[in-house]
Amino acid sequence: MSVSAQDLVSFLRGLRAAKDYTSENVDQQALESILEVGRWSASGSNRQSTEVVVVKDADLKQKMVEWGARPAGTAAVVLLLVVQDDGSALDEGRMAERLCLGASAVGLGSTVATLKNEGPDEIKKALGIPAEHRARTIVSIGHPDRSAPKQPARSPGGRKPLSEYAHYDRF
Ligand SMILES: Cc1cc2nc3c(=O)[nH]c(=O)nc-3n(C[C@H](O)[C@H](O)[C@H](O)COP(=O)(O)O)c2cc1C
Repeated sequence: MSVSAQDLVSFLRGLRAAKDYTSENVDQQALESILEVGRWSASGSNRQSTEVVVVKDADLKQKMVEWGARPAGTAAVVLLLVVQDDGSALDEGRMAERLCLGASAVGLGSTVATLKNEGPDEIKKALGIPAEHRARTIVSIGHPDRSAPKQPARSPGGRKPLSEYAHYDRF
């Protein structure tokens, strides 16, 4: 199957956060495809310092909601990003984005979210993650629930126009 450049741009541009999911499971093959996309994420000097814990445990997902990451509550799978030795946030961000793109490629919804307050420390204790690592960012994944009531937006949607976003030669 060949995909046109236009279709690919449309796919990449169309990635949106999905924060409510149905109770349908994510199958293992889809999950492994997503992880494979993440595994090939680039990192500075190819350090590969971001790893992933696949969380399916309902109690743990509920704790994540209490730590300010609401989308974890209905997600079939939550991927917790673990960054060795509190390493590069840029590498971590790239990993998160790739995992979301991987999810979208296999027809699933996803969003990035962060654990707040004591969340990062508590999750490290719960999962046996060394204290010097960072465990703050999650990617929630599931089948989007399009009938879920809309949550009040905490920030304006959409994006800046291209003319305000891209600057040529001078800012
Ligand atoms: C770094 C990062 C952190 C985020 N943290 C949260 C979060 O803690 N909770 C949440 O509901 N959404 C979170 N989001 C999702 C954003 O709210 C969402 O991507 C943004 O509003 C754009 O939405 P759209 O892609 O649907 O246009 C986060 C996104 C990013 C990139």
